[in-house]
Amino acid sequence: MEIVLAKTAGFCFGVKRAVDTVYSEVESGGKIYTFGPIIHNKEVVSDLEKKGVTVIKDIDMIDQLSEGTVIIRSHGVSKGVMTVLENSPLKVVDATCPFVKKIHRIVEEDSTKGKRIVVIGSKNHPEVMAITGWCTGLPATVIENEDEANDFRAGDNEQITVVSQTTFRLAKFKELVEILRQKGYNVDVVNTICSATAERQEEARSIASTVDMMIVIGDSKSSNTQKLYEICSHECKRTLYVQTKDDLVKEPLGSLRRVGITAGASTPKNIIEEVQNYVRINF
Ligand code: F3S
Repeated sequence: MEIVLAKTAGFCFGVKRAVDTVYSEVESGGKIYTFGPIIHNKEVVSDLEKKGVTVIKDIDMIDQLSEGTVIIRSHGVSKGVMTVLENSPLKVVDATCPFVKKIHRIVEEDSTKGKRIVVIGSKNHPEVMAITGWCTGLPATVIENEDEANDFRAGDNEQITVVSQTTFRLAKFKELVEILRQKGYNVDVVNTICSATAERQEEARSIASTVDMMIVIGDSKSSNTQKLYEICSHECKRTLYVQTKDDLVKEPLGSLRRVGITAGASTPKNIIEEVQNYVRINF
C-alpha cells in the first residue's frame, strides 16, 4: 500500500513560529502565559499546560498578574488589548504572524487617513476581531457573505479599504469585492489572503482525487481542518476526519492500495507521523 503524505500537511509558517516561540520561552524559565490558546490543538495546549504554561482567557485577568511573560498567538490581538498588555508588568512576546501584522498596519494607517475599513472574513474569528481592533476611525465593517455585501452602505464620497482574513477563500473574496464594486463605491482592495491555505487545500484536493482513502488530521475546533475535510470528501468518498491515531482504531481494516494524508495548520508533526505509522502497520 502506498501512503501519500501532503507536503503542506501541518503547521504553516505563522503557527510554527508561534508554537516554537512558546517552547523556547518555556526553556528560558519564568512564568509563561499565552493570550488565548496558542493553537487549536488540544494535545499541544495540554502539553504546554504540563510545562506550566497558562492560557489567559480574558483581558481582565491581566490585572491580577504581577510578573511573567505573555505570548501573543499568530492570530494577533487588537490595539486595545496590545496596549493593556504593554502597560502591564508582564514581558510581552508578540508571535503574531507577520502576514497578519501587515493587515493591522494597513487598517491602522488607512483608518487614520479617514478611510472606511471593510474586512472580508468571519466575524467571530479571533483574527478578524483583532484586525477590526486596529481601526482608529469609524468602526470596521465585517462582511462574511453575499447578503452582508449587498446590505453594505457607505457615503458617496467615502474611500473604502477592503482587506481579508488570511484564511478566507479567494474565489468568495473576489465575489464579495465585486458586489461592493458594482455598487459604485471607491474601493481600494488589498488581497491579504495567505497563500499557505490555498496551497494546502489545492494539494489536499489533488491527492484526495487519486486515493482509496483520505485522512484529514486536525482538532475538531480547527476551521481550516474542517474546510480540508469538506474539500477531500468531495473528491474521495472514504475521507476520515481524525484528531489523533486513536480515532483510526474504530476504522475497519480493508485492502487499500493508496491512502492520502493531510493535516490542518494547527496539527503538530508528531501527530501526523503517528497517524502515518498506524496506517502503514494496520491497513
Ligand atoms: Fe500566517 Fe498564513 Fe499561517 S497568515 S498564521 S502563515 S495561514
